[in-house]
Amino acid sequence: MNAFLAHVGTVAVLLGDACAQVMLPTLPTLTGATWIYNTTSATTSAPAGTMAFRRTFTLAAGKTTASVMAVMTADNLFTLWIGGSQVGSSPNDANAWKTAQVYSIPLNSTAGNLVFAVLTTNLADDNPSQNAAGLLGAINILYTDGSLDSLTTDTAWKVNADPADGWQATNFDDSSWAAAANEGTYGVQAWGTGIAVPVSPPTTPTLMGATWIYNTASASTAAPVGTMAFRRTFTLAAGKTADIAVVIITADKLFTLWIDNSEIGSSPNDANA
Ligand SMILES: *[C@@H]1O[C@H](CO)[C@@H](O)[C@H](O)[C@H]1NC(C)=O
Ligand SMILES: *[C@@H]1O[C@H](CO)[C@@H](O)[C@H](O)[C@H]1NC(C)=O
Repeated sequence: MNAFLAHVGTVAVLLGDACAQVMLPTLPTLTGATWIYNTTSATTSAPAGTMAFRRTFTLAAGKTTASVMAVMTADNLFTLWIGGSQVGSSPNDANAWKTAQVYSIPLNSTAGNLVFAVLTTNLADDNPSQNAAGLLGAINILYTDGSLDSLTTDTAWKVNADPADGWQATNFDDSSWAAAANEGTYGVQAWGTGIAVPVSPPTTPTLMGATWIYNTASASTAAPVGTMAFRRTFTLAAGKTADIAVVIITADKLFTLWIDNSEIGSSPNDANA
């Protein structure tokens, strides 16, 4: 049996050998991440306004990234850029912080560094003396060899209340920015535990319930030597963008798989493959 992890349409990421263990992009966990801001007193109160954060992460040497998955929230709102590109924003709602946003993006990079940039907005509150502000997030970086790097919000992030134009760019010089202040580990007040993460991690497909197929049912007993072609056109969920396809596949005896015109992989050339 072979397992394939592919970026739909674009990138063939990982070809497993027969029965190899394929590591899927796992959902990052907020457990152990710290709320950060420009001062620890923001756990109680901070001025309404925006705050900019940057984190320059050193990628594993000699590896190529396959995808990045981020779970993030901020009190009250945020916008996230990865590698200089805007990835998404929380809904424009004062209670948006109660539900983390989950982003999964394909990323083919050997750049050495990956820069995360976040702009948070602390909305005005009826009671300004209890208007906490902060950013909380966890990020997994999957490499094409199946290995994973993880990071969370912590004091390795940099912060600036009044950033210069272009501060989201990868090559922006943030050496003058302060280190982010640690407001406490996820669970700390004023936010507590229970931030909703409304997405389940990608799971490995199972062969249970799948049917063996050929051009005739009698092929379960005998069929001529030769090749057979199969196609399946799958309708993607409307309005969504496909990210990763995980394929568990075998054939008696051999097969080659294409997804959207790209050859993804073949079984070994072995009658018992
Ligand atoms: C990744 O990017 C490199 C450099 O641009 C390119 O040569 C390579 O084909 C890309 N890999 C995939 C799987 O798209
Ligand atoms: C934090 O940012 C606020 C603006 O939101 C600013 O007034 C304050 O001086 C900053 N505090 C520190 C310690 O940088």
